[in-house]
Amino acid sequence: MALQTWNSKDYEQNARFVTDLGMGVMDLLAPQPGEHILDLGCGDGVLTKKLADLVCSIVGADASPDFIQSAKNLGLDGRLMNGEALSFTEEFDAVFSNAALHWMKQKEKVSEGVYRALKPGGRFVAEMGGKGNIETFEKACRAALAKRGLLEKIPEPNYYPTAEEYGDLLTKQGFKVEYINFFERPTPLPKDAKAWLHTFRKSYVEELDPADVPLFLEEVQEAVRPKLCDARGHWTADYVRLRFKAIK
Ligand code: BEZ
Repeated sequence: MALQTWNSKDYEQNARFVTDLGMGVMDLLAPQPGEHILDLGCGDGVLTKKLADLVCSIVGADASPDFIQSAKNLGLDGRLMNGEALSFTEEFDAVFSNAALHWMKQKEKVSEGVYRALKPGGRFVAEMGGKGNIETFEKACRAALAKRGLLEKIPEPNYYPTAEEYGDLLTKQGFKVEYINFFERPTPLPKDAKAWLHTFRKSYVEELDPADVPLFLEEVQEAVRPKLCDARGHWTADYVRLRFKAIK
């Protein structure tokens, strides 16, 4: 089974909107000068750098070697680390995460690691996909995989909780949930559905016979077109967000 992998160049072209749309959750974080903050799932570090520029000390953690190299190239303290096995103890004033937690399916291990990483009174502020996120894409992908007999072999790489589910997880961990909001955020894409799939569903594409990839992409793109593409050819994906702030 192929795991999702990331390529910084491809990310720059097809996914910069993820960073740009991270400003809302950054406002909720409200980083203060002198604070020590962990950016969990820091990606290529572009949003992490914005935090660092707000005069706080930042560590960026990500499981992708390519992303960590990009973060280091930006002068950041990037650590190659799985978010399901964080190794910090009472170090941080805050743990921040944008568009990353839905890739970490062992959610209990994540909340445990974040809780341990925070100083007492520290905050966990994050935004992730919520229930129903990119449902149109996912349904079309699953149908195309089923047609090829690959449904069992290729599991969905993400999980998208409701506010209740994630709130319960945080509370069970010992956090006090101060704010949690679930909202739809239709998201304009920089290119077409194929480009989105190429970047965000690599774990599917890489399991296919290479000769079948163009057909798979075409099939999924045409299946989602009625819902996601307007008459002028502009694509908008059906993102759903879960944004929260919880205190240790
Ligand atoms: C998200 O940010 O919600 C997301 C992006 C790509 C694939 C899955 C989820």
